[in-house]
Amino acid sequence: MNQSHHLFIVPSHRLALEAADHLIASAKDSIDQRGAFFIALSGGSTPKAIFNLLKTPSYQEAIDWSKVYLFWGDERPVPPTDAMSNYHMAMKEGWQSLPVPQTQIFRIEGEKEPQKAAEEYNTLLMLLLPEHRFDLVMLGMGSDGHTASLFPHTKALQEKHKWVVANWVQKLDTWRLTLTYPIFDKARSIAIYVTGEGKKNTLKNALEGPYQPDELPIQRIGHEGQTTTWFVDEAAAKELSSFELKNIKQQ
Ligand code: 6PG
Repeated sequence: MNQSHHLFIVPSHRLALEAADHLIASAKDSIDQRGAFFIALSGGSTPKAIFNLLKTPSYQEAIDWSKVYLFWGDERPVPPTDAMSNYHMAMKEGWQSLPVPQTQIFRIEGEKEPQKAAEEYNTLLMLLLPEHRFDLVMLGMGSDGHTASLFPHTKALQEKHKWVVANWVQKLDTWRLTLTYPIFDKARSIAIYVTGEGKKNTLKNALEGPYQPDELPIQRIGHEGQTTTWFVDEAAAKELSSFELKNIKQQ
């Protein structure tokens, strides 16, 4: 891990809270500095818990939600009403209760033909993202080391130019729509959430093992020019050699 990575190891029951506070701080900072907050949301269990918190009264009042612009980092090939849709999950779990204007919510259209949906979202990002940068990208890590829908050994890992692609994931026998490294690299900051014992070995390999991003796509996330913050619970952190030392907030 280089110096632009920060690792927070927190008890499971506090992880969503810490992550929600981090999101709010990032939003405040962006709104203060640039008048708006552009965020790419992720699917997964921790974001779900974060979205649940955001709709509670103290968070509702924490920032000016009318300055927030919502996007997604990846999507499944399903309509927005499907329980598998990342858009559906995010709206249902929290965002539909927050006063973000409908005109500032930009979902990936998973119901369309995948290449077309990817091209259209790519165009949308090029038109809408100020300086072509997200203020914050939320990411998770699967137990196979995938992040967003950048799965091990898939074609999207090699994408050097397009910001959004349709990615065929053989082991799931499905298309996924995903943002790519080129746009993640431009983001001002990235938050990665990793929880649960089932991820302890993958996390150790990702953070402390040899660099092999085709095998562990999460390793390719984050560089010196941006801040990458890892929110990891104690169960997932168990195998880290530096566990004892890092069991405190570090910044
Ligand atoms: C998705 C995500 C995906 C997710 C990881 C981790 O659509 O599912 O974008 O990349 O973040 O699979 O998910 P969990 O936190 O639920 O394990």
